[in-house]
Amino acid sequence: MNNDVMKNKIFLETYGCQMNSYDSELVCSILAKANYALVPTEDEADVVLLNTCAIREHAHQKVYNRIHEIKRGHNPAGGGAGGHPVIVGILGCMATNLRTELLENRKFKIDFIAGPDSYKRLPQLIDEAAKTEVRGGEVRGKGEEVRKVFDITLSEFETYSDVYPRRERGVNAWLAVMRGCNNFCTFCVVPYTRGRERSRSVENVVEETRRLAGEGFRQVTLLGQNVNSYFCEGADFADLLEAVSAVEGIVRIRFTSPHPKDFPEKLLDVVARNPKVCKHIHLPVQSGNNRILELMDRTYTREEFLALTGKIRVQCPSIALTTDIIVGFPSERDEEFRDTVALMRDVEFDSAFIFKYSQRKGTIAARKYPDNVPESVKTERIVHLNEIQKAMSLKKNRAHIGAEYAILIEEEPSERFPEYIQGRTDGNKLVAIPKADHALGDFVQVRITGASANTLKGVAI
Ligand code: SAH
Ligand code: SF4
Ligand code: F3S
Repeated sequence: MNNDVMKNKIFLETYGCQMNSYDSELVCSILAKANYALVPTEDEADVVLLNTCAIREHAHQKVYNRIHEIKRGHNPAGGGAGGHPVIVGILGCMATNLRTELLENRKFKIDFIAGPDSYKRLPQLIDEAAKTEVRGGEVRGKGEEVRKVFDITLSEFETYSDVYPRRERGVNAWLAVMRGCNNFCTFCVVPYTRGRERSRSVENVVEETRRLAGEGFRQVTLLGQNVNSYFCEGADFADLLEAVSAVEGIVRIRFTSPHPKDFPEKLLDVVARNPKVCKHIHLPVQSGNNRILELMDRTYTREEFLALTGKIRVQCPSIALTTDIIVGFPSERDEEFRDTVALMRDVEFDSAFIFKYSQRKGTIAARKYPDNVPESVKTERIVHLNEIQKAMSLKKNRAHIGAEYAILIEEEPSERFPEYIQGRTDGNKLVAIPKADHALGDFVQVRITGASANTLKGVAI
């Protein structure tokens, strides 16, 4: 196998959350530095990398289907498109969560895997996988044992502070300020797939933000699995927000996700006062019932959550609040589910991501609580909550009709509506306006003229 040819063409596909999107940008940077070329389609590639997500079973299934598709398409004997053989590497959260299943799967051969803290070793791993005579990530020298090609070591220190991500030009840039999570909510796989919490220094984050501004980015979204527990050399997340907001050229700062258990007064004050920090907080509640919250080990009660959202609204009346909810957590009874319904009605979230509980390998819930809410009940509950949220979002969106906002144009016109361009309000609402001569990155003052549950319509004023 000619290694130099291999070195040239990599196709990377990303699943999961914004943190994974950011990581893919790190991966591109690391590979470009090592002289690999990143290609826009799978057909041109010698190496296909899937940066995967493990948060729910559905995420796994999507990746398994893709692996089959890739292997078939690139294997002439498999009756696919007749392409050349490729190296397939699995990165991201599935790599750390499912090492054995992936490497020992008999239905398909993965050539190598790399966890979220091992990306600096990617060039070596790819080279090693390329050298293997028999694909499937097995390295066998003369008289040697079969060895699998992988690195899923989780680090307490790796923050990739010394890697500047390779991004597509745009308006918003993702910026991970911390990695990992120490919370161990019982349902969640993230602490196992991404390891312990660690933060980057304020100077390092500010330096990256300056470079972003220099490249024309207008907004940064600061990322962490538990972003308000950011802490580095005496600086907390509120300090970090203030420091980032001092960077000229960046007009908006967003962040995701804070944990409701520790949303300090100081942080709320910065959100309320600092004009660059967007008036939107994504605050995942997960459930409105105290017994379930305790089983989830969320470390707050329904009453504490309601007190927090009440306080946020008093101190920052224009705030948009969004959330995540899980239905059908093990043993969740109807009346307990109704507490979540009541909480949603009480808080009136601007939008909500609602998920069916999905048992994850290795989590505390998987060990302690049988996944005993029937699928049909989970479906009923998710449908019910989605209906409530849709009505709520519509009501809230309609209340904006007639109001005036500054929107930052973030999206090119879609194929379906080529005559419209879209931007977001400070509260993260998408607004479509006639394109006219507005361009990406423009700040446009608009009046809202129409609303659906998902978007607003407006005109420039
Ligand atoms: N760090 C973020 C959560 C990231 S995961 C936070 O704590 O806010 C995004 C969302 O996925 C979670 O808020 C939760 O609602 C959902 N989720 C996580 N694990 C899940 C599971 N096992 N089943 C269903 N949904 C899950
Ligand atoms: Fe998962 Fe909880 Fe950490 Fe969020 S805070 S990543 S839900 S363990
Ligand atoms: Fe998925 Fe990992 Fe993000 S599990 S949601 S890609 S942190």
